[in-house]
Amino acid sequence: MEPVETPHTYDALMQTLNWRRSIRKFTDEPVSDEDLLKIVDAARLAMSGANSQPWEFIIIKDKETMRKLREVYVSDDYQFTYWLEQQRDPEYRHPYFNYPPEEIEEQMVRATGWADAPAMIAICYDPRKQFGSVLSARANLADGSVSVLSCSMGHVSMLTQLAAASLGLSSARIDTNSQDGYRKVLDIPEPVRLYTMVPVGHRAYQPGPPRRFPLEDLVHYEKYDHAKLMKGEQFLEHLKKIRGQGKGNYGKR
Ligand SMILES: Cc1cc2nc3c(=O)[nH]c(=O)nc-3n(C[C@H](O)[C@H](O)[C@H](O)COP(=O)(O)O)c2cc1C
Repeated sequence: MEPVETPHTYDALMQTLNWRRSIRKFTDEPVSDEDLLKIVDAARLAMSGANSQPWEFIIIKDKETMRKLREVYVSDDYQFTYWLEQQRDPEYRHPYFNYPPEEIEEQMVRATGWADAPAMIAICYDPRKQFGSVLSARANLADGSVSVLSCSMGHVSMLTQLAAASLGLSSARIDTNSQDGYRKVLDIPEPVRLYTMVPVGHRAYQPGPPRRFPLEDLVHYEKYDHAKLMKGEQFLEHLKKIRGQGKGNYGKR
């Protein structure tokens, strides 16, 4: 690739960042093969630990494959997550799953609107590729730390969604807790694993503005400002608030 001019594209970037939202219902308007390839071409520029680039992409447009993915999601992921979530105090439940069992069928249809997207990019990874990073990066998995592999995959999926947005296309990430069912549908060989599924298409609804914490709560100058550290009850209130806000947003689907 030719070296490119130093960019000063903050405003354009902010426009793309604000427009990119997790969109979970799409119109029937198709997405071109060219755009899908452009998306993954951009995504592969993501940074990764030791430049390990553990990602691979499966581009899916076949309706029957999408139907099968939805089926696996409902049987292997959704029901399990729903019942596990019911073990928590309702105020702390993920808004996706905070409703009574008699509504499960109806909610499941809403929660799988992504399966009607005209295209999907399944992002996979080959865990062996992370072996390029330093050993300590994998040994240091103390509480609260994240793995180099997850970080790299987070970057590539974010870029996938941003690249889609830059083309006027909407997307989401549909995370799964299981592997086997998806592996069968997509014929993914060992040791490759599915990381997340990114439906791509044209948004069927307009989301509200992005909900983010106030900038001043997040930024410290020179040293950590201890007045900004959430304590006990404060943190629980914070958690309830984000759960509550999420409910309204997910309800838009
Ligand atoms: C690691 C990660 C996992 C996520 N998993 C899911 C998911 O399984 N299903 C889903 O609909 N959204 C998922 N999301 C999207 C978040 O809910 C979303 O990014 C967040 O609510 C902010 O909304 P926005 O993307 O519209 O700005 C995930 C996001 C991240 C970063």
